Amino acid sequence: MEGAARKAARGLVRDFGEVEHLQVSVKGPADYVTEADRRAERTIRAELAKGRPDFGFLMEEDGESAGADPTQRWVIDPLDATTNFLHGIPHFCISIAYEREGEPLAGVVYDPLRDEMFWAEKGNGAYVNDRRLRVSARRRLADAVLATGIPFGARPGKDPFVAALRRVMDETAGVRRFGSAALDLAYVAAGRFDGFWETGLSPWDVAAGVVLVREAGGFVTDLAGGNEMIYGDSILAANPALHEPMRRLLGEAMDAATRG
Ligand code: IPD
Ligand code: CA
Ligand code: CA
Repeated sequence: MEGAARKAARGLVRDFGEVEHLQVSVKGPADYVTEADRRAERTIRAELAKGRPDFGFLMEEDGESAGADPTQRWVIDPLDATTNFLHGIPHFCISIAYEREGEPLAGVVYDPLRDEMFWAEKGNGAYVNDRRLRVSARRRLADAVLATGIPFGARPGKDPFVAALRRVMDETAGVRRFGSAALDLAYVAAGRFDGFWETGLSPWDVAAGVVLVREAGGFVTDLAGGNEMIYGDSILAANPALHEPMRRLLGEAMDAATRG
């Protein structure tokens, strides 16, 4: 998984250099980025298939394809934070999860510009490069820095999001929107963020990050506190002390907004 991520990342870093130049061209870098994204996905697929020819795939660009072994598959986002990449903002990653019978058992999230390889395997801990990761030890929401994603364009859930943000602004030390859900989860695992929530994500955005957070000692659920954080519509990850307070705060605010 690491090898596949590193190989695809070399191409992405080259393409990112080009994208920075294209900002000033009238046509913009959009088509170029779409191609970079697809190339990265093809590279990852080819590398993983070399090692495990029987596994299936769930990939953002190419969709779902079953393997000869229907119980095991890779869940892949070849470029998470496309919008950052497109705008020349140096914060993006590759996310790859290994899933068996619907459960993610290993994950890598690679940030090529910082050369930070976040990786985790169920039962064996979470790491960045060769350093072990632990979630933060902060216990008070008032000290917590949380990450989130802001719904944009035609995406649903804007009113509940604004209501949740309003409460979080009162109760915490601040909120960040860096633009990569996979790195947001990796940063929770690393204790950089104390928690993260978002709605409307896809399995490839979060599957690897879920393993990272759990193996770093954090809790991950959906916003209702249930287990649908990969294939459902919401995710909430935090250190064990802050998970329940965050769930209550966000739940109250979002319910009130939905009731109107
Ligand atoms: C996006 C990022 C972002 C999140 C979006 C995702 P993409 O993935 O993870 O942080 O807020 O909802 O779609 O499209 O850049 O791979
Ligand atoms: Ca993504
Ligand atoms: Ca993507």
